[in-house]
Amino acid sequence: MSRLVYILNGPNLNLLGKRQPEIYGHVTLADVEAECRALASELKLEIKFYQSNREYEVIDWIHAAREDAAGIVINPAAFTHTSLAILDALNTFEGAVIEVHISNVHKREAFRHHSYVSLRADGVIAGCGTQGYALGLRRAGQIIDGKAA
Ligand code: DQA
Repeated sequence: MSRLVYILNGPNLNLLGKRQPEIYGHVTLADVEAECRALASELKLEIKFYQSNREYEVIDWIHAAREDAAGIVINPAAFTHTSLAILDALNTFEGAVIEVHISNVHKREAFRHHSYVSLRADGVIAGCGTQGYALGLRRAGQIIDGKAA
């Protein structure tokens, strides 16, 4: 049984730490990856951690996850609000899906209130800062272990 979780990041998240720090904070994506790797080893999970500014790459990683992964933690960034194609891809994946947003999208502009990805996500974390990734990974692990209450 796979214990692999893909952690996927959409557009502009490569600039985390530099981009609008008043909204997204000062932690970089490399810091987030290091934190997720440490937590994964504690939880005896494996992770693949990716970021892309290209929608098709996110879709291709979801297709790859179909072959070898038990879970996906995804911050689709702006694709959250626009991408039916990412929703369709996630609907082909049978494992746990956790959607993460660093900011509380519901406190922000109305166009951020709708998420295509939430139609598939088993859980959604928003507004917990970059800590949301670790929370999402922990939850994915609990679902994989059949221990999600
Ligand atoms: C985001 C929220 C999105 O609305 C935005 O487009 C992002 C980041 C977040 O993590 O808070 O790029 O997903």
